[in-house]
Amino acid sequence: MSQGYHGAFGGAFIPEILRETFRQLTEAYRTARRDPTFWDDYLRLMENYSGRPTPLTLAENISQEFGGRRVYIKREDLNHTGAHKANNVMGQGLLVKRMGKHRVIAETGAGQHGMATATMAARMGLECVIYMGAEDVERQRPNVFWMEQLGARVVPVTSGSKTLKDAINEALRDWVGSMDDTHYVLGTACGAHPFPEMVAWFQSIIGEEARRQILAQEGRLPTHIYACVGGGSNALGIFQAFLEDTGVELVGVEAGGHGLATGKHAARLAGDGVIGVAHGYKTYFLQDADGQMRDTHSVAAGLDYVGVSPILSHLRDAGRVRFAAATDHEVVAALKRLMRAEGIIPALESSHAVAQALKELPRLPPDAVVIINLSGRGDKDIFTVADAIDDPGWRHFIRAKATQYANRDTTGAT
Ligand SMILES: Cc1ncc(COP(=O)(O)O)c(C=O)c1O
Repeated sequence: MSQGYHGAFGGAFIPEILRETFRQLTEAYRTARRDPTFWDDYLRLMENYSGRPTPLTLAENISQEFGGRRVYIKREDLNHTGAHKANNVMGQGLLVKRMGKHRVIAETGAGQHGMATATMAARMGLECVIYMGAEDVERQRPNVFWMEQLGARVVPVTSGSKTLKDAINEALRDWVGSMDDTHYVLGTACGAHPFPEMVAWFQSIIGEEARRQILAQEGRLPTHIYACVGGGSNALGIFQAFLEDTGVELVGVEAGGHGLATGKHAARLAGDGVIGVAHGYKTYFLQDADGQMRDTHSVAAGLDYVGVSPILSHLRDAGRVRFAAATDHEVVAALKRLMRAEGIIPALESSHAVAQALKELPRLPPDAVVIINLSGRGDKDIFTVADAIDDPGWRHFIRAKATQYANRDTTGAT
């Protein structure tokens, strides 16, 4: 691979002014990769701070339901802050320390990556600014609350559609003026080189563990691995360790939203993505006939992105990873089923992988060994899930809380 290309995808389409910063970052990343003490420090941090290795749990009840096919769940939900995002931000944090920078910036949509970054910055003693669309600040108050309590400054972005892509533009604007002391912590395996490769490297810890664990528990490799795909970091994290094992079928699951035919989805590789260049790299994007970025939709905020990792685009076109899409409806049903069958509350993002596996399991050979990468836990989705399930008890609780605040505002009582 040259200059960050993966087949026809990737590259670094960046403004001239950022070239030197990217050169320094690439150099720091390459040096760290060659230095085994860096990876040892990383492993120690993830073990002592994030709770790794995460277990590979046999889903006994689901396995039984599907005629004894063995279904395992890789528990990234058990990471500190509740998702695989911790693997990436902690790795980048160690790199920031090596580069001698003392400030980090990030952009966030739903707030998960912002929370993970704010946590890392607190732990490593770094100043932290998070850019977030003003709309998202309104919609994701619990995450904004935690980011601020962790010491980060959350900047609402009021330009454009006031969502993630406007936050990305604002973060880049900050970086152009602050790159001497600031690192931009990208949250997924997208963007200009070296980010896709670097993020995939930090996430490879998932697959390395899963490979060892399945060999220890089953004495053989899995036949199928399912992972959800937003930008692609958790999927690449688990897939990489199995790329050479051609007997292992790798399945990336995108957001089917209201259904591929409705146009309201985020299925770039399983749907109708078109090759283009945006946000600093070349990949499949959802675009209209004029090449403008389309609006995307998913019940899971973390999958609602218009582009996808260039590494996954390459693996799709090379025939190594198969892509599928699960609809919002299927996802909520899968979430409920996993909770009831196994006592595990998956994130809405991760529930896409669960939904696709459940759809395909009846067709798989009876001796199939399946791993589902559970990228995160569902607590963060309580508002969305309660809405989707239309839970009356939850509605009552929110109304009572609102009344309590309204009374406090008018009477001044605390
Ligand atoms: C729990 C969870 N899973 C998956 C994703 C999607 O990201 P990626 O495709 O980079 O793993 C997100 C993004 O916010 C997330 O929070």
